[in-house]
Amino acid sequence: MNFRETLLITGGAGFIGSHTVRRFLRNPQTRVVNVDALTYAGNLENLVDVAHAPNYVFERVDITDAAAVARLFDQYRPDGVVHLAAESHVDRSIADPMAFVRTNVIGTVTLLNAAVAAWKADGFAGKRFYHISTDEVFGALCAEGFFTETTSYSPNSPYSASKAASDHFVRAYHETYGLPVVLSNCSNNYGSHHFPEKLIPLMIHNIVEKKPLPIYGDGQYTRDWLFVEDHATAIETVYRSGAPGETYCIGGWNEWTNLDLVHLLCAVMDEKLGRAAGESAQLITFVKDRPGHDKRYAIDASKIERELGWKPSVTFEEGLARTVDWYLNNPEWLANVTSGAYQQYYEKQYLP
Ligand code: NAD
Ligand code: TYD
Repeated sequence: MNFRETLLITGGAGFIGSHTVRRFLRNPQTRVVNVDALTYAGNLENLVDVAHAPNYVFERVDITDAAAVARLFDQYRPDGVVHLAAESHVDRSIADPMAFVRTNVIGTVTLLNAAVAAWKADGFAGKRFYHISTDEVFGALCAEGFFTETTSYSPNSPYSASKAASDHFVRAYHETYGLPVVLSNCSNNYGSHHFPEKLIPLMIHNIVEKKPLPIYGDGQYTRDWLFVEDHATAIETVYRSGAPGETYCIGGWNEWTNLDLVHLLCAVMDEKLGRAAGESAQLITFVKDRPGHDKRYAIDASKIERELGWKPSVTFEEGLARTVDWYLNNPEWLANVTSGAYQQYYEKQYLP
């Protein structure tokens, strides 16, 4: 079959990656090669609905494996890379920073090298390397102000330091080798298929199970939440229309303190689970704070709206309700990812 373009999407079996893969697959002329090592966070069950699409291919490859990455460029001759593969959890980065250096820094540079090697002979004509990054590279805000594309980098966690380093490498490859790159820095995402180590899915899981809801410190830390399907639309928009060498900040204009957010989630779930109002909130438990905990993140997303015409379309009320419904309707997904059974699922479904 002839396709108009081929994209390597890295990290496509993860949370945002699976929504991004699904988004690009909507175009039957686009062939998507999902490149994922299937770490604890990668789960092919996230993509069962599209696994047999004629324009979808899965490759289990670790992005730090230079020979395997070169083979992908050789075999698929991609027009673009949409790079999401990463170690993504701040708490894990505090426990094991080197895993973050390995995938986020070395893995990104391995991909950049392969892209330059494969594409430079044609002068990079029609090619694009897109790095998906986080607002956490900018550090922490106080009560006022927003991150913009010109905010200086000031990462505070090993996770954000590794993402900052990879952003810098991506920019450097644009300046030094002329690689046509584009970047985006997005705020906290929420939605279906989110690994239950992150705040919202962990709280949903614990509310269902009537387990304690651990709030770090005083719970007055603020995050700007964006529905993951809106992020996937933004990624497609930036890939298609972003200017080479440019960065776009993506956010939901939707700030919540952790404590207020967990109270809201408890109220939504009490109603859905038929519990008395206030029952789940009794599970809230204040625990030791995260070291180096960033006080507040908030994105000014006016550049992407002004220049590319993207803005969030799903309200927090609707997005949260859809997210809770998805988790309540898919208890086996939660059971599988928390038990590690999805690795066996992969062996059964995909290995010869
Ligand atoms: P995730 O942890 O859910 O998924 C990461 C994916 O990368 C997994 O499928 C995993 O198997 C894969 N992976 C990890 N190491 C790999 C390696 N060495 N080789 C190949 N694949 C590997 O992450 P996510 O939350 O979906 O985040 C995706 C990207 O978006 C990351 O780059 C992250 O920094 C960025 N981001 C995330 C958020 C958020 O709120 N989750 C916000 C802004 C930016
Ligand atoms: P998280 O989902 O880990 O995302 P990030 O640290 O990348 O923003 O955490 C979101 C916020 O919730 C952050 O301020 C830490 C806090 N948090 C808790 O209070 N309790 C928890 O159990 C978790 C996982 C996070």
